[in-house]
Amino acid sequence: MTEIRRIGVLTGGGDCPGLNAVIRAVTKDAIFHGIDVVGIEDGFLGLIENRTRPLGYEDVSGILTTGGTILGSSNKANPSRYATGVDASGAPIFEDVTDRCMQAAREHRLDALVVIGGDGTMTCARPFSALGLPCIGVPKTIDNDIVGTELTFGFLTAVATATDALDRVHTTAASHHRAMVVEVMGRNAGWIALFAGIASGADVILVPEIPFSVDAVADVVTRRSKHGKRYTVVCVSEGARPEGGEQVVERTDPTSPDPIRLGGIAKWLSTQIEDATGVESRYTVLGHVQRGGSPVASDRVLATRFGHHAMELLKAGTLDRMVAWNDARMTDVDMALPAGKQRTIPEDHPLLDAARSVYTSFGR
Ligand code: F6P
Repeated sequence: MTEIRRIGVLTGGGDCPGLNAVIRAVTKDAIFHGIDVVGIEDGFLGLIENRTRPLGYEDVSGILTTGGTILGSSNKANPSRYATGVDASGAPIFEDVTDRCMQAAREHRLDALVVIGGDGTMTCARPFSALGLPCIGVPKTIDNDIVGTELTFGFLTAVATATDALDRVHTTAASHHRAMVVEVMGRNAGWIALFAGIASGADVILVPEIPFSVDAVADVVTRRSKHGKRYTVVCVSEGARPEGGEQVVERTDPTSPDPIRLGGIAKWLSTQIEDATGVESRYTVLGHVQRGGSPVASDRVLATRFGHHAMELLKAGTLDRMVAWNDARMTDVDMALPAGKQRTIPEDHPLLDAARSVYTSFGR
């Protein structure tokens, strides 16, 4: 086994609160053990373009509480399938630029990489191990949809942000006796909607895992407007869809490993509600607000533990693993596990029952 003397660290994919806390934990732990750290800029793009900088104690001091990533990120740079141009029809041309990355890694004498990212980043990292550059994965995403870990840092901060927004929408919904539809992120997983919806007491929670009926949602609005509080708050996941219908796609980006960008279901649904019930409706899309800002305390703690565990694995020579939080403890899984999969809400998840027990509708 090669002794680990110098590591590279990068953040790939969409950002989330807590990335800096991991960079700090990895770097400080490494420095303490005499290991040099090279920061790779903008995810795998920095390896492709050989853009790096050394990370010392001062570089990571004071970043625990800050949102974003001091290294920058990219969700388009998959070295095995990197868009280098367009053909005559305007379609992207992809090339395998893994060798270019390996050359940069050799130049910087990297013995291993710590990759902080989602399923896409874990997938991008896999070929490097086979070429002699072992990797440790640290899972991040506000969506909490990475297979192999029950929790990712960033998720609980996004839930807190969405809950705060829903609480605010609640009061204005009540004043104007309206139906208010709030769209949250999460891709094809409804975790943010489920947690924030329960935390804010939303009357209706719509998630991608449970296709909804517009009639059922309209019934809740009508019932509440006639007999109840005279307003309704709906928390809808961007990936939710009506029974027999499709998800609403906001845009596609063919150069991105995940080309679909969801968005627009709240606007569509608020019109449907108003047409079906006559109750005035408005919608709000929270969007990237959920990805920004300072991580909540529990995300800072989780990110620090993930960073520390990543370093423990590296020092022990246990490579090509992804750190994980399962059964209320720190652990690690095969880095290949999350590739191409998403951890969605199982139909027997206890939170669904808990929500139903307080009369929350899932639009069925
Ligand atoms: O995966 C995180 C996430 O914020 C999703 O919830 C959302 O669908 C997507 O990224 C948005 O991607 P982008 O930042 O490319 O618009």
